[in-house]
Amino acid sequence: MSKLKIGVIGAGSISELHFGAYAKNAQVEIHAVCDLNEERAKEKAKQYGAVKTFTDYKQLLADPEIDAVSICTWNNTHAEISKAAVEAGKHVLVEKPLCKTVEEAHAVQEAVRKSGKVLQVGFVRRFGTNTNVAKRFIDSGELGSIYYAKATVLRRLGNPGGWFSDVERSGGGPVIDIGVHVIDLCWYLMGKPKVKSVSAVTYDKLGNRSHIENLSFYKAADYDAAKNTVEDMASALIRFENGAALSVEASFTLHAKKDEISVKLFGDQGGAEIEPELMLVTEKHNTILNATPQIDHLTFDFEAGFRREIEHFVDCCLGKHETISPVEDGLELMKILCGIYESSAAGKEIQVN
Ligand SMILES: NC(=O)c1ccc[n+]([C@@H]2O[C@H](COP(=O)([O-])OP(=O)(O)OC[C@H]3O[C@@H](n4cnc5c(N)ncnc54)[C@H](O)[C@@H]3O)[C@@H](O)[C@H]2O)c1
Repeated sequence: MSKLKIGVIGAGSISELHFGAYAKNAQVEIHAVCDLNEERAKEKAKQYGAVKTFTDYKQLLADPEIDAVSICTWNNTHAEISKAAVEAGKHVLVEKPLCKTVEEAHAVQEAVRKSGKVLQVGFVRRFGTNTNVAKRFIDSGELGSIYYAKATVLRRLGNPGGWFSDVERSGGGPVIDIGVHVIDLCWYLMGKPKVKSVSAVTYDKLGNRSHIENLSFYKAADYDAAKNTVEDMASALIRFENGAALSVEASFTLHAKKDEISVKLFGDQGGAEIEPELMLVTEKHNTILNATPQIDHLTFDFEAGFRREIEHFVDCCLGKHETISPVEDGLELMKILCGIYESSAAGKEIQVN
């Protein structure tokens, strides 16, 4: 059988995990790379054996040999490139967030539905072993009904600079960049309840703290600390129509002792901590039990997560499954993310529909 030919659009930091995962997949051939920065595209093409490079994504999409694309570009280009790709007959794996606004998300959804192509949103944490083990317990009803979740992702120092800190290109700061992962994880494990309202605060008290020395952090391929128009920190309460709620905190910088990631779900029969380490909490014979599963990775393993995300995407392109991370979920997440910014700007709880 001939191989699925892949084009990767955007050859910066995260593309390395896409390239690495495609390179390990026997069903695909990495065929083309596109980046505004020609040298960067050529470097990745050489490293991964792609035969074509482009600096204009439209030219890549016009190539009839390409079956599917990964979109690893700035957030402000996700909607435009996703729509153009499905309209050109390509399957799409688009990095999170799906786009910058709810309006854009609706337009992408409409284009995907018209095209009949696969569009998978890069909610990579759905592919973690810790997530999947927890999901099996939740789906079997062992935690009962999940009525509350708490997600925290705090960086002491971690504004990636460049486009990430330019609100025009990113759409926002820690909420849309790292909060999105833990919000999605909770929402997915809670059974994707319909969002009712959001009450949030965002702060920009500390700036990007580019003067700090001796502490390294994730940086955009074109790191530049000169511009920073995004929030430093946010806190939100999201209410769902079924009565459940999710509390979230996310920061790029904060006067905190250490970085923190924590994802917890509470049901009426039991609880689960997904991060920093998977643990299930239950009750037996009038005693509370903390149960630690014996699995290879209790926390999220990036390399394995991306490998599984891309294996799943490729299988969906080949018609073997329906994606577990469809455009509809990308749209619901945009409602939550934009709701957080809207509520903070309004200074009150806002209704989401
Ligand atoms: N899933 C994850 O855990 C994860 C982690 C980091 C970043 N991301 C997402 O991946 C995307 C890229 O992030 P990054 O960290 O790689 O950023 P980056 O700045 O390192 O790389 C982005 C690349 O895209 C290129 N680019 C931008 N617009 C383009 C266009 N129109 N056509 C072609 N190339 C274009 C840039 O030149 C750059 O090389 C973002 O959407 C980000 O949210 C996801």
